[in-house]
Amino acid sequence: MSTLALENVHKTYGRGKRTVPAVRGVSLTIEPGTTLGLIGESGSGKSTLGRICLGAERFDSGRLLVGGEDFTALSRERLAEFRRRTSIVLQEPGLALNPRRTLGESVTEPLDVHFPRLPAAERRERAEHALQLAHLDPGLWDRYPGELSGGQQQRVGIARAIVTEPEFVVLDEPTASLDLSVRGRILETMRELQERLGLAYLLITHDMATVSALAERVIVLYKGTAVETGEWRRVRNDPQAEYTRTLLSAVLTMRT
Ligand SMILES: Nc1ncnc2c1ncn2[C@@H]1O[C@H](COP(=O)(O)OP(=O)(O)OP(=O)(O)O)[C@@H](O)[C@H]1O
Ligand SMILES: [Mg+2]
Repeated sequence: MSTLALENVHKTYGRGKRTVPAVRGVSLTIEPGTTLGLIGESGSGKSTLGRICLGAERFDSGRLLVGGEDFTALSRERLAEFRRRTSIVLQEPGLALNPRRTLGESVTEPLDVHFPRLPAAERRERAEHALQLAHLDPGLWDRYPGELSGGQQQRVGIARAIVTEPEFVVLDEPTASLDLSVRGRILETMRELQERLGLAYLLITHDMATVSALAERVIVLYKGTAVETGEWRRVRNDPQAEYTRTLLSAVLTMRT
């Protein structure tokens, strides 16, 4: 896909006296096929920024650019294409999935939304292909989320996210609810998918091992402001902002 960018975006929730500034003047660029990590404490505006990048959240000022074109100026066709070419994987796979939908129904749903006229056989074929890419057995087609493990549920979330052949995927804490052994394998799958499908990721996470596994560049957010931006290796080894140092040392202390 085309490069995705935010230019000086501001976003405040609420009105009047009860306002919450969530994003204060953030700019970022995500090149096709690359991963930008978004790190920062709870409430720093990460998920809000993720939704803004998907064109799924209004903001007060600044611009969302898709291939250099202002999001608000996209033609109806380009907008529909953008929706097809973007998706999100959420943290709690158990909650993100509808408990009353089988795995097959969950994975075909995005196709029904974006390709309503797809013939049934092709619909099934595409969904099964997405399951294989996500390393899920198509034999699980009729299972409900409650009959799947946490790792399998997250793989359903991944299959759903890739079934429309997107080019940009927001990963919002994709491994936070998984235990360590499962986490590593899910990350491996995400990396493999990035390579095979040429995906660009916006990776939102608290987990530095997850950042290391996927991200080339990171943005450190603090109270809605980007306090540091750069190559992850450099940021990790030589943080420039006071807050980045605090964030990294807090994580390191937690581990010991
Ligand atoms: N729909 C909403 N209405 C009002 N305030 C909101 C809404 N969504 C988020 N906020 C507030 O905006 C700020 C940023 O929230 P956001 O969810 O983007 O943070 P986050 O970095 O993703 O946090 P976490 O790590 O806990 O997921 C927080 O103060 C939050 O309370
Ligand atoms: Mg969040």
